[in-house]
Amino acid sequence: MSQRTSLRFLRRGKVVEIERLDPMLTVLDYLRLEEKSPGTKEGCNEGDCGACTVAVGTLRDGGVVYEPVNACILLMAQLDGKELVAVDDLGDSDRLHPVQQALVDSHGSQCGFCTPGFVMSLFTLYHAGVRPTRQQIVDQIAGNLCRCTGYRPIVDAAVSSCTGRAIDAWAKGARRAAEQLAALADGSDLFIGNGQGFTAVPAQAETLASLAAAHPDATIVAGATDVGLWITKQLRTLPKIIHVGGVKALHAIDNGKDILSLGAAVTYAEAEPYLAAIDPDVGEVVRRIGSKQVRASGTVGGNVANGSPIGDMPPMLIALAATLHLRHGEATRTLPLENYFLAYGKQDRKAGELVWQIDVPRLKPNERFRSYKISKRFDQDISAVMAAFKFTLAGRRVQSARAAFGGMAATPKRATRAEVALAGVSLDDAASWGRAILALAEDFQPIDDMRASAAYRAEVAQALLRKALIELAGASQTRVVGARGKAA
Ligand SMILES: Cc1cc2nc3c(=O)[nH]c(=O)nc-3n(C[C@H](O)[C@H](O)[C@H](O)COP(=O)(O)OP(=O)(O)OC[C@H]3O[C@@H](n4cnc5c(N)ncnc54)[C@H](O)[C@@H]3O)c2cc1C
Ligand code: FES
Ligand code: FES
Repeated sequence: MSQRTSLRFLRRGKVVEIERLDPMLTVLDYLRLEEKSPGTKEGCNEGDCGACTVAVGTLRDGGVVYEPVNACILLMAQLDGKELVAVDDLGDSDRLHPVQQALVDSHGSQCGFCTPGFVMSLFTLYHAGVRPTRQQIVDQIAGNLCRCTGYRPIVDAAVSSCTGRAIDAWAKGARRAAEQLAALADGSDLFIGNGQGFTAVPAQAETLASLAAAHPDATIVAGATDVGLWITKQLRTLPKIIHVGGVKALHAIDNGKDILSLGAAVTYAEAEPYLAAIDPDVGEVVRRIGSKQVRASGTVGGNVANGSPIGDMPPMLIALAATLHLRHGEATRTLPLENYFLAYGKQDRKAGELVWQIDVPRLKPNERFRSYKISKRFDQDISAVMAAFKFTLAGRRVQSARAAFGGMAATPKRATRAEVALAGVSLDDAASWGRAILALAEDFQPIDDMRASAAYRAEVAQALLRKALIELAGASQTRVVGARGKAA
C-alpha cells in the first residue's frame, strides 16, 4: 500500500495538504498562529475549559458526523482524513449562524471568552439530528466553562436553535463533504519526516505495528487527551508521533452475543452505547468521563494503556473480567486485564508494543454489576475513588464476586480478600456482609493526595461495597442520577 508524505484534511470545502509538520503542533496553534484564525480561544490549554472547542467531522456510515473536541490538546496528526470547522467559519456580524443568533437572542454571552467554545459545542449539537432535552444540552456543554453569563441563557439558546433539523451551509454541503472525505480515505500510510523525527498516521495495521516496533522511543497517540498535556503542560519534546487512529480495524466494535470487543482506537463516545448495554452503570460512568470533547477524542484503549491508578475504565473492565490483546510487530498476545497493571507507572507492555483490542464479557443471567465514581465535581472530574463489582448470585446468596477499585492503590486493583469474604453472604442478612466490608481495609492502603485523604478513600470504599449490597438486596433504590437511577 502506498505511503503519503502530506497530511490532508478538509477545511472550508477544500482539501488542505501539509508537507512540513512539527509532530507536536496542536490544532489550536495551527489555527491561531499558522492559519491566523484567532476566533478559537486558549483558556486552560489542558482540555478543561472548552474555550478552544472546534468541530471535527468524521465520515461514518457514508455521512459526516461532527463532534466537539478541544483544539488545545488535539494534535494535527489526528486531523488526517477529517474535516475541521472552527468558529471563524460560522458566520459574520451580518449573518450569524443559527446557534450564534440564538446566543445573542437569549443574552448568552458577556465577556465572550468562553463564547467561541460554546458556539462550537452547540454547532455539533445543531448537527446531531435530534431535538435535545435540557439534560442532553447540559451534558453537551459540561466541558464548556462560563464564569460570567451563567448557563441558563446558554441552555435556552440551545433549546431554541438545536431543533434536530440543520439548514446551514454544512447541511447543504453534506453530500460533497462526505465525498471529499471518502476520497481522502484511500488506505495510504501517512509519514512526514525522517528516522529522527516524524508524524506517522498509518492506515494499514501492519505498517502501524512494524513502525511502533521499529521505533520503541516513539510516542503512541490515540486521542491525545493525556499526551496533549505532556506537550502543553509538561513541555516535553516528543519528536516521533505515531497516531493509531488511522487504522480502520482499530475502530472496530464487535458487538458479540457473549463478548463486546473494542479496537484500541474506539473512542469513549463510540463505545458508550455498547458499554451501557452491558450494564447501565458502565454507561453512566462513561458519561461522566471528562466532557463531550474528551469523550469524542479519548479512547478506552488509551485509558487502559496509560496505566493510571485513577483511570475510570480499568476497575470496571477488571470487575467484568476483560481480556487485553497486545501486538508487537507480528507477535500478538492476550492477558487478563488485571495482570497488565504491575506497579505505579509500570505495565506489562514493552516499548513499541501496542494495545490492540479489549474484550469485555457480557453479564450472565445470574450476574449483577454495580460501579460508582466518586469525584469532587459530578462532571469533568477525575475520580478520587472508583469502585466496580460483579456479583454472581445463587438465589439470594452471593456465590462469588469480583471487586476492583481505582484510587485505592498504585494501580487499579482487585480487592481479593473482600472477594473471598463475599462468597456465601446472604443478601437478606446484612450482618453477613460485615467481614467482606472490613476486609477492604486489608486489601488496600489507599493513596493520600489532593483529591482525597487515605482515610476518606478507605471509608468511601467500604461504604460503596455496602451500597452495592443494599441495592442488590432490594432494600434501597439506586440513587445514581443517571441511567439506572432514571430507569428505577
Ligand atoms: C479534561 C480532561 C478530563 C479527563 N477526565 C477523565 C476522567 O473523568 N476519567 C478518566 O479516566 N480519565 C480522564 N481523563 C484522562 C484521559 O482522558 C484518559 O486517560 C483517556 O482515556 C486517554 O485516552 P487517549 O486516547 O486520549 O490516550 P492518549 O493521550 O493518546 O494516550 C495515553 C497513553 O496511552 C498510550 N497509548 C494510547 N493508545 C495506545 C495504544 N493503542 N497502544 C499503546 N499505547 C497507547 C500513549 O502513548 C500514552 O502513554 C481526562 C483528561 C482530560 C484532558
Ligand atoms: S483551552 Fe481550555 S480546553 Fe482547550
Ligand atoms: S461570557 Fe465570560 S466566561 Fe462566559
